[in-house]
Amino acid sequence: MITALGFGIMSGDVLVERLQKIVGASGVLTDPALTASYTTDFTGGFGGPVRLVVRPGDTAEVAEVVRACAADGVPIIPQGGNTGLVGGGVPAPAGPAPVVLSLTRLTEIGPVDPIARQITVGAGVPLATLRAAIRDQGLDFGVDLAARDSATIGGMIATNAGGERVLRHGTTRACVAGIEAVLPDGQIIDRLAGLPKDNTGFDLTGLLAGSEGTLAVITRARLKLTPQLDHHVAALLALDSIGDALTALVRLRELPSLELAEFFFADGLDLVRAHASLPAPFRETYATYLLVECAGRTDPSDELMAVLEELDTVRDAAVAMTGPDRRRLAAYRELHTESINAQGVPLKLDVTVPMHELERFLADVRALVEGRATPYLFGHLAEGNIHVNLIGAADPEALADEVLHRVAAVGGSISAEHGVGRAKTRWLGLSRSAAEISAMRAVKSALDPQGILNPGVIFSD
Ligand code: MLT
Ligand code: ZN
Repeated sequence: MITALGFGIMSGDVLVERLQKIVGASGVLTDPALTASYTTDFTGGFGGPVRLVVRPGDTAEVAEVVRACAADGVPIIPQGGNTGLVGGGVPAPAGPAPVVLSLTRLTEIGPVDPIARQITVGAGVPLATLRAAIRDQGLDFGVDLAARDSATIGGMIATNAGGERVLRHGTTRACVAGIEAVLPDGQIIDRLAGLPKDNTGFDLTGLLAGSEGTLAVITRARLKLTPQLDHHVAALLALDSIGDALTALVRLRELPSLELAEFFFADGLDLVRAHASLPAPFRETYATYLLVECAGRTDPSDELMAVLEELDTVRDAAVAMTGPDRRRLAAYRELHTESINAQGVPLKLDVTVPMHELERFLADVRALVEGRATPYLFGHLAEGNIHVNLIGAADPEALADEVLHRVAAVGGSISAEHGVGRAKTRWLGLSRSAAEISAMRAVKSALDPQGILNPGVIFSD
């Protein structure tokens, strides 16, 4: 018996040999030392065995790989930068070992169309690379998130990523003009024309955005760009409560330049400071912190300062005008995920609740987990999006169940921006009706009757 070793060594596995013919020997990985980073997620909470990892270099190769796997009935897991947080881009711990289809070699960046203000890029382009490539043309992409250096455009579309600037630009779906994708039977659909008006039937781009790799493999995207805004100001506000943060938000939202409003609490700040050895932002400790940022073609600092002066609930504020100072303030919020992961594998729940329920919900969650786990709560205030991170939970399933039922009871969503993945399939029915789930399953089985694309993601098997 010959062991599969990858890198051009004939393995005795017919699929390996077939895929090597399509993508080249170095594009098929079977050595566990090489596949390891593709088979476990960023938090260490999800992952499982893989048959092989295949790394095609263009759309035609992706289509051939999909056809080869479909012919053998081998499950495919499309993967971008592997920054997902719900296990949707890595293998399941059990079941038939799948192929991980990595899109990270699809890194072509096309020319900017300055009239349409659009660009076509490969699915494997990391967000930060895209933004750097268009900066000197005075352009930007509306979505931004902490995993910007690794998160790829294809993965962001597949998960309809949200991030920090949703209040100004919407989620990824709103920033995409079209996509190219490979269907589970290997056919390619091309919606890259980027026409702002095109009512010829179903919106396949909108459907595939947020489909978490279950309906098609996204290979390229036509992106809507926004003008690069050269003037920025950030402020970290110290407050006594989330209620005060919401009061501040109402006034801050009147500023057209507002693009970010992120909240966290004293315990999260302490954790981040200890993890990254950061100085305290203020002389005193406060219960609640709100990080805001404004950006404009002209300096928005005067308008932000005017609002802050009016807000008597703001106990203290640190204002940053330069890039390095803004990044120093942003670190208190953006390093939450990394600092929490350093404590152990967290139970991560990413939920939205109606704004009028936010304050009570946060208090309820703290009461519910008291003595059962250490909670770190933070998130995107303008969308009522709370990242409930629980460390040291002895009964994570039970805790998740209780928190998510509480979310449903107040009319929220069990997944705000991370997706359903493998982590939340059990609770899909809390946010979607039986009729909706049956419509979604009908779409899935129409496009993927064999069920080879990301089985076990969104829908439980
Ligand atoms: C964030 O907003 O930082 C992310 O969604 C990550 C997380 O929830 O840990
Ligand atoms: Zn988030």
